[in-house]
Amino acid sequence: MAIDISIRLREYAELTEKALDGFLSGQNVPDKTLVEAMRYSTLGGGKRIRAFLTVCFSKMFGGSVEKAIPSACAVEMIHAYSLIHDDLPAMDDSPLRRGKPSCHVQFGEATALLAGDALLTYAFDVLASNKAISDKSVRLSVGVLSQLAAHRGMCGGQAIDLSDSVNTENDLFELYYLKTGALIEASCLLGYYSVCDDPNPSVVENIKKYARLLGIAFQIHDDILDVTGDPDVIGKPVGNDEKADKKTILYFRDLKSAEKLEYDLTVSAIDAVTDYADSDGPCQLAVWLMSRKK
Ligand code: IPE
Ligand code: IPE
Ligand code: MG
Ligand code: MG
Ligand code: MG
Repeated sequence: MAIDISIRLREYAELTEKALDGFLSGQNVPDKTLVEAMRYSTLGGGKRIRAFLTVCFSKMFGGSVEKAIPSACAVEMIHAYSLIHDDLPAMDDSPLRRGKPSCHVQFGEATALLAGDALLTYAFDVLASNKAISDKSVRLSVGVLSQLAAHRGMCGGQAIDLSDSVNTENDLFELYYLKTGALIEASCLLGYYSVCDDPNPSVVENIKKYARLLGIAFQIHDDILDVTGDPDVIGKPVGNDEKADKKTILYFRDLKSAEKLEYDLTVSAIDAVTDYADSDGPCQLAVWLMSRKK
């Protein structure tokens, strides 16, 4: 049966929010301000598409919200940390995130750094403490999330983003895959690993294909929104990429051709998983993302 994607997104976002609120309860902590900063940047905002993907890919292979939600929270914590650090003056120097002052504006740079550090580290405690999945699933999950978040994944992409070393469109696709696609890939694989601790290589390949194509399409849309977005809706500044002289897709193509590329990548992403039963969540999400305004 077809699902209404916005209803399902909201449903999983609420489940994720509730679980994150519990994980970040702030009980028995030595410094309340640090937890306040972690909560400020993790709760009460964000589309939660990474959590959505984790839950969907778990359910697609016989899993459940219960099995998947700690992994979904772990990836959202890592995503939140990446945004806190991305907004710092030493990186994108962005004062606004999810419609609120960025973490460093609200709490100061030192606390923002520590909030990011703590979210990154704590995410692995949340993953490792999941009693609803097998020990081998935990091991696979810790491995894939750490690899895809670190220097060969998201951090590697952020480093290229800052280094001004993009010369060709293919360089840009590599950067997009690393800085954005890698955590999307981790989100999807975490869902699969929450149910399966003896992964089928062809399933893994198809999930990776979906996630990589979707990740590039997602970042194309993000870069387009940086130019065309409505400042009252997007919740972060527009024009930041141009101000920082970033080479985005609009350096290589005009708007129409960039949108066509986003569409083609989305269609190919859907193709990679559409034959699996219950794949309508990831497929409809991919379509929905092309029309997002933030
Ligand atoms: C923003 O990600 C950062 C990018 C990778 C482009 P999202 O657009 O998913 O941000 P939230 O979580 O919805 O705020
Ligand atoms: C974000 O890329 C990549 C991250 C890993 C955080 P951007 O710098 O384009 O993300 P926004 O536009 O600030 O959300
Ligand atoms: Mg950035
Ligand atoms: Mg940024
Ligand atoms: Mg951006």
